[in-house]
Amino acid sequence: CHVHYHDFVLKKENFTRLCNTKSMLVVNGSFPGPVIRVQKGDTVFVNVHNQGDYGVTIHWHGVHQPRNPWSDGPEYITQCAIEPGSNFTYEVIFSDEEGTLWWHAHSEWTRASVHGAIVIRPVDNTEFPFPKPDGEDIIVFGSWYNTTEDVNDVVAEDLQDGSDTPNSDCYTINGQPGDFLPCSNASTYRLQVEYGKTYLLRLINAVMNVEIYFAIAEHSLTVVGMDASYVKPIVTDFIMIGPGQTMDILITANQPQGTYYMAGRQYNTVRKDILDYDNSTVTGILEYKGNYTLPTHPIFPSTLPTLFDLVAAKKFTDRLKSLATISHPADVPKNLTTRMYLIASSNYGFVNHSGQYETGVAASLNNVSWANPSTDVLRAYYRNMEGFYTSDFPNFPPSFYDFASEDYPDTTIITAKATKVKVLEYNEEVEIVFQGTNVLDASEDHPMHMHGYSFYVVGSGTGNFDNETDPKAYNLVDPPKMNTVSLPKVGWVAIRFKASNPGVWFWHCHFDRHLTWGMSFVMIVKDGDTPETSIRKPPPNMPPCNGSPTI
Ligand code: C2O
Ligand code: CU
Repeated sequence: CHVHYHDFVLKKENFTRLCNTKSMLVVNGSFPGPVIRVQKGDTVFVNVHNQGDYGVTIHWHGVHQPRNPWSDGPEYITQCAIEPGSNFTYEVIFSDEEGTLWWHAHSEWTRASVHGAIVIRPVDNTEFPFPKPDGEDIIVFGSWYNTTEDVNDVVAEDLQDGSDTPNSDCYTINGQPGDFLPCSNASTYRLQVEYGKTYLLRLINAVMNVEIYFAIAEHSLTVVGMDASYVKPIVTDFIMIGPGQTMDILITANQPQGTYYMAGRQYNTVRKDILDYDNSTVTGILEYKGNYTLPTHPIFPSTLPTLFDLVAAKKFTDRLKSLATISHPADVPKNLTTRMYLIASSNYGFVNHSGQYETGVAASLNNVSWANPSTDVLRAYYRNMEGFYTSDFPNFPPSFYDFASEDYPDTTIITAKATKVKVLEYNEEVEIVFQGTNVLDASEDHPMHMHGYSFYVVGSGTGNFDNETDPKAYNLVDPPKMNTVSLPKVGWVAIRFKASNPGVWFWHCHFDRHLTWGMSFVMIVKDGDTPETSIRKPPPNMPPCNGSPTI
């Protein structure tokens, strides 16, 4: 394998979108930021120089970083911020990932402007498990915020109405809003194709707060990979992709020469109104090369589901299966040592650190809303520093309620802010069942993301999880392997993994408003018996936390 070196300079630059110029923090002057290209198993050193005006960390989303939580990035979980005027070098260690991932800031909401793609090719002398494409490109979906210069304004803007509805000003494809937004059509993303050729498109959902439906007019999509794991090819008219997820798809240019819209818009299980194609739709253009008269308007995809179409989303995600071949096996854990049942809610009202009740939005897992400690959990754990977290997550064995109803005892509506972690022994085999709820009629999907691992999605359903019958229908043969899974609206999803990567690993909803409100927890996976199964030594220059010892 190879070693690569990159410099990331974080700096504010001016960008104009929607007829409006603003300055925002980006990496190396570009939005989205630079692409990292590696082969499976490589190591990348990224020296991040912060020339902005607030502290930032960077996360390598979906990179498992074996035994190396020091370079994982989430602020207050594995490190403190790289402060303005300083730098920190991440050592990003790739292992079994192959396909597409991405990197993004992991402090406040900075990831809105600080993110980019990671492309991981097969090692020399191995091939894609599908016919070699003739070309490829990257499609990053993003959120655009008009009025904002500062990340804290982004949060304010998005949460301004105090409701659970996402409010960015538009969505983007590779930083461009597309033909339906003002002052945008001159810079719409275009993918030029040659008739008869096949292209690999690497899709990344870097949007802040919604899942996305995506389709290309008249062209079917063949999904071949997800979250840097291959899947059995599925042919589909549209895909649904959650924030944090990545998807590799093939398209063949087999239609009459012309131009065709590719379009993305929200799959939003909160909104009950039906929007048609309008300024909430981000577009790009698939354009055939050659000598022909360009049509005045590209054709629109007729197959894009409407924004509230839960059935379409479920039908699509249920089709995803891992390859489960000799070269890409599915090693699903079957001897469970830990099972967790985690109830995901949005809440109104919480109990603060001093035990006082406060009104205000919160989000929780088993009625615990994650509160960041003042020193990162990893440092506190590694240095045996007391008082930064407790190891009693989840805090109550959940009793059974009808989570699909709206009738709840108070104990499930009011959450408590706390810093509680789950500790696992090395190599434990773990199952987590996430249950969505309808508390406050605020039910919706939650894209649940795990750091340091990918997991198998062994089952999923609507309504209440049934511990008697549902496990019997699990797929333990070829379940898809992901790092981010959509917990369906008032439904459940079951995942499994083997705790073979020691470290401190974050788990959270990848809707940033829910992350801000506390829908997250931390897993500490203890060391094995040997140095080769233990956390690596920390690098010498971990950024110091306010007033706490540097490591
Ligand atoms: Cu995409 Cu905690 O991250
Ligand atoms: Cu959520």
